[in-house]
Amino acid sequence: MICLGIESTAHTFGIGIVKDKIVLANVNHSYTTKSGGMIPFNAAEHHIDVCDKLIKDALEKANVKLQDIDLISFSQGPGIGHTLRIGAMVARILSLKLKKPIIGVNHCIAHLEIGKLLTDAKDPVLLYASGANTQIIAFEGGKYRIFGETLDIGTGNFLDAFARYIGLGFPGGPKLDKLSKDGKNFIELPYVVKGMDVSFGGLLTNLKQKYDSKKYSDADLAYSLQETAFAMLLEVSERAMYHCDKKELLLGGGVACNTRLQEMAKIMCRENNSKCFILENQFNVDNAAMIAWLGLKEYNDGKRQKIEDTEIKPYWRTDEF
Ligand code: ATP
Ligand code: FE2
Repeated sequence: MICLGIESTAHTFGIGIVKDKIVLANVNHSYTTKSGGMIPFNAAEHHIDVCDKLIKDALEKANVKLQDIDLISFSQGPGIGHTLRIGAMVARILSLKLKKPIIGVNHCIAHLEIGKLLTDAKDPVLLYASGANTQIIAFEGGKYRIFGETLDIGTGNFLDAFARYIGLGFPGGPKLDKLSKDGKNFIELPYVVKGMDVSFGGLLTNLKQKYDSKKYSDADLAYSLQETAFAMLLEVSERAMYHCDKKELLLGGGVACNTRLQEMAKIMCRENNSKCFILENQFNVDNAAMIAWLGLKEYNDGKRQKIEDTEIKPYWRTDEF
């Protein structure tokens, strides 16, 4: 069975094609800016512009024809309304045109399930850190649960906001990753873990003040920011692993591409006799292969959806699933 999946929760529009348990294609194009943040309306326009070409590219890469597709899946939420609507609309059109079933999936769960498909992880705790989302997720007691999350902004948005403040453009995460390698001096920053949750708002304000004081180098700030923010994320992930008695950690989301976060996660797992699973970057960032895979999995598990039940769910919680 072949599923075509569509991803459009935020700045990335993607088309993925999965046949049984094999990813045949995973193509995407992201809306970026040289300076300033993302404007939802413009991101949606971008998705409309690239959609046609990406569908063609994905079919070509997978070496299948549109008529060979058995199922259409799309990210139904959570995400930005403007952009989610484009993916949902394309999915409905394809489903009606091809007369094939449609399934809307939860984007956060897709990050977890693609990790289980592509690595040896059986039942991991997922540290999902992307732009808008930061959650520690695991399947426990018969359902997906959130064990910890950010109380304000997502890790990626926090990184992007600081990068933008110091003039690095969007997305800033990869730029800070690079810049941090030149950092030599650790600067004490607010470390905010409340119970199982983290918060980045105060840390961001503090960093902006330190930057404005001109007493610190950009590289030292980038380095210290990463050490602090990632230690917060891993403290909560580690506690979730203990709590659930799980010995596997999976990283997911765009921030999981960060080389220092990967290194710190591996050290934490080694110290706990646990395994750390890291995906290729193309499956960490928002991607449609994971949407196609989860759609296929849910279809095989018996899920069916009517076209009138495909309205987008911008605030869909992982634990409502
Ligand atoms: P979601 O809808 O899941 O919230 P998103 O639109 O934020 O997704 P992702 O592709 O998962 O998209 O993540 C993008 C984020 O990842 C951006 O904030 C970006 O700065 C960050 N990022 C990408 N690469 C790195 C890196 N090497 N280090 C740190 N952050 C990174
Ligand atoms: Fe994501």
